[in-house]
Amino acid sequence: MSALIQKHMFVIKLFFFALLCTGLAAAGAFAKNTCIDCHKDENFRVQNRALFDYYNIWKGSSHELAGVMCEDCHGGNSLKTNKDSAHKGTFLSLTSIEKSTFKVIPQRCGACHEAVLKNFVDSKHYTALLNEGTGPHCATCHGSMNSEVYYTPIVKRACAECHNEYTKNSPEVVGEADKILHRINVSRVFRNWINIHYSDRAPERTEEINGLYRDITNSWHTFDFTKLDEKSENLLNKSKSLVNKAMAEKRKK
Ligand code: HEC
Ligand code: HEC
Ligand code: HEC
Ligand code: HEC
Ligand code: HEC
Repeated sequence: MSALIQKHMFVIKLFFFALLCTGLAAAGAFAKNTCIDCHKDENFRVQNRALFDYYNIWKGSSHELAGVMCEDCHGGNSLKTNKDSAHKGTFLSLTSIEKSTFKVIPQRCGACHEAVLKNFVDSKHYTALLNEGTGPHCATCHGSMNSEVYYTPIVKRACAECHNEYTKNSPEVVGEADKILHRINVSRVFRNWINIHYSDRAPERTEEINGLYRDITNSWHTFDFTKLDEKSENLLNKSKSLVNKAMAEKRKK
């Protein structure tokens, strides 16, 4: 390639880079966010110690990394510098034991996690949450702004808060959850391996496993353990046999 063309290419690349930056700025990626400005402020920290921690929890979370901002969950207006105008329309009482917020949380989270919400509304948890306020909502099991998928021992402890010998509310589900989650966890390891091994050789195999895996992580939220028992066993058996097959192929070589 001649030096002149190379130079032109560089200019063209630079142009597209500049265009990209303007696009991102317009989309708000570089825009100011008054919720964050105010909530991370030193004065705020001194005056509202406990509430300041919520900023810290969000900071560095998978949500922050994915660009999910305060107002995506809380509402309000992140362009207003004045507290009252910024908070307008914000649901501030997420932590309070109010039925209205119970309903709001799954809807707010579900705006982005659509497949999860679709399954969750079919669960006995959702019915119990709406009717008596006794069922768990998304933040009960995932925390709030740093929402993560907790390790199984922590999940079990969360389930056992409500499902135990004293409440007599299906205490057996804790053991069943352990069994199903264990199968999913093992399948996840196999799945990673399958994705690496088969992605070029036989993409249809990776697609099948990925499909089964996605289906179960979504339908987990129906908490229909009869179906989940079957699905998780199927996923585990299929992934195991693919891994075995790959091992055999490798040995043949
Ligand atoms: C100018 C400062 C300021 C801005 C801007 C601001 N907040 Fe706040 N926020 C506060 C203060 C101070 C509190 C502590 C409670 C109070 O004084 O009302 C608070 C409390 C909260 C609470 C806890 C609920 C409560 O009242 O105890 C939430 C949730 C919240 N803010 C979310 C947001 C969101 C979301 C935004 C942006 C849309 C935002 N805030 C913008 C200053 C601000
Ligand atoms: C992914 C959704 C989500 C995001 C993003 C999020 N929050 Fe929250 N926040 C929640 C939930 C759910 C609760 C209540 C449950 C809890 O306390 O665990 C909460 C609670 C709070 C509280 C305490 C409310 C109270 O009444 O005591 C404050 C303050 C707060 N958030 C501020 C913020 C700020 C500031 C940001 C941005 C830096 C933010 N949140 C981002 C979901 C979110
Ligand atoms: C504005 C969209 C949006 C909202 C609202 C939102 N999330 Fe998320 N969430 C995301 C994105 C994007 C990710 C990171 C990519 C991914 O893992 O899917 C994520 C990640 C997660 C994860 C981690 C998934 C993993 O595999 O590690 C959990 C759990 C989660 N969110 C739960 C929640 C809960 C609970 C709420 C409500 C309190 C909520 N989300 C609100 C978009 C959102
Ligand atoms: C009773 C506890 C519980 C409730 C309530 C709950 N979840 Fe989950 N959620 C879990 C567990 C446990 C997993 C991990 C399952 C797995 O390994 O597939 C999970 C997985 C997830 C994931 C990750 C799925 C993936 O692709 O890996 C997301 C996102 C999520 N939940 C969001 C939500 C949202 C949004 C709500 C509310 C509408 C909600 N959850 C309600 C326990 C709960
Ligand atoms: C905040 C309390 C609470 C938490 C936490 C909770 N549950 Fe539940 N769970 C309930 C309530 C209430 C019901 C509905 C009972 C009914 O309808 O009789 C229920 C029902 C169920 C059912 C249906 C049982 C049946 O009879 O069909 C399953 C399965 C279940 N929960 C599993 C779990 C698992 C697994 C976890 C932890 C990841 C969990 N629950 C966490 C309150 C909770």
